[in-house]
Amino acid sequence: MFDFDTRPERRRTTSAKWKLIEDELGAGHDDVVAMSVADMEFVPAPQIVDAIVDAARHDVFGYDYATGAYYEAVVGWMRRRHGLEIDPAWIRLSDGVMPAINTALRAFTHPGDVIVIQRPVYHPFTNAARGNGLTISNNALVRDEASGRYTIDFDDLGARLSDPRCTAMLLCNPHNPVGRVWTADELRRIGDLCIAHDVLLLVDEIHADFGRDGHPVTMLGALGEPYASHAIEFTAPTKTFNLAGLLCSNAFIRDGALRARYDVAAANIGGMTVSHFGLVACIAAYDDAEAWFDELLDVLERNRGVLADFASAHPGVALVEPEGTYLAWVDFRGLGLDPDALRDFMHERARVYFDEGVMFGPEGAGFERINLACPTPMLQEVLARLGTALATLG
Ligand SMILES: Cc1ncc(COP(=O)(O)O)c(C=O)c1O
Repeated sequence: MFDFDTRPERRRTTSAKWKLIEDELGAGHDDVVAMSVADMEFVPAPQIVDAIVDAARHDVFGYDYATGAYYEAVVGWMRRRHGLEIDPAWIRLSDGVMPAINTALRAFTHPGDVIVIQRPVYHPFTNAARGNGLTISNNALVRDEASGRYTIDFDDLGARLSDPRCTAMLLCNPHNPVGRVWTADELRRIGDLCIAHDVLLLVDEIHADFGRDGHPVTMLGALGEPYASHAIEFTAPTKTFNLAGLLCSNAFIRDGALRARYDVAAANIGGMTVSHFGLVACIAAYDDAEAWFDELLDVLERNRGVLADFASAHPGVALVEPEGTYLAWVDFRGLGLDPDALRDFMHERARVYFDEGVMFGPEGAGFERINLACPTPMLQEVLARLGTALATLG
């Protein structure tokens, strides 16, 4: 029903994903195809485009605030998609999940504190921790080599959280890049440990709308009390509807004292307004574009199947079965290439640009993160290139 076939030309536009190729690989790489940064190669949902065009024609672009329509849209989406009851008073609108997480780190940690993260993980977590003067304590995910599935070492997590200098844990649910959708039981165990050691749990749920069949996403707040009040959830319509460039995210802070501290930190950062088009797009997305998103989920499922077939037909390539997100974590260690050789192989021979696994921590060496949010023929073209290059390895 919607258009998931048109492939917009994003090379030499404002797209950061495509600019990366130019910046990093330089001249002579115009043909390299980007499947890296987590945005989508689809034309936007028509309901969102209509709302933006309408706003562009009729609105005035002064200082804005989060309107009642925005709160209702967020509350409605969370109720319909996640069975989660959100009080509008808990919601904090901001320009993005990372800006909101950085605000929270300013509000709730001090330079020199320890923060727990779980590598391999979305690399801006590391930057945010370092940028706020925090010491990283890595509760590295444990990979089962037979199944490829990642789990949490809870003994190690408990030991790290018990460090008296540890004040926060930054959890990615579902997890980018390994694709785990943490179960309610796993979340409860994390929550229990954070509560026992008085560590604030910051939960990045930007991928929460992308649980696959059989892997329903449990949002932290769905665990109820005491977990919900001991955590902050960071959500957004920007992955779900591909709106990152419009700047909009929603944090849920249930505890009044935490909200007050967050608000002081946000005020001190000095933002005087919210993004007008971010608001307009968020409301249109959550209220009117749900059918577009449901169709997108089917396209992503088809793309996962295409990649899974490719991986099973090519020795040395193993797909880590994703439970959520639109990113695929692919194990290329079987090719026996060191990180430099793997990079060179992808860019110079296969002419494809994925996100290198090492970007997410040393645990990611030999892996690549492939962004599946693109028209299926584009994925097929990339995999054909990869297949041809793999054949030259003999
Ligand atoms: C886990 C995770 N958190 C945050 C972000 C970025 O969110 P924002 O653009 O809202 O800062 C991304 C983008 O890829 C992500 O994967």
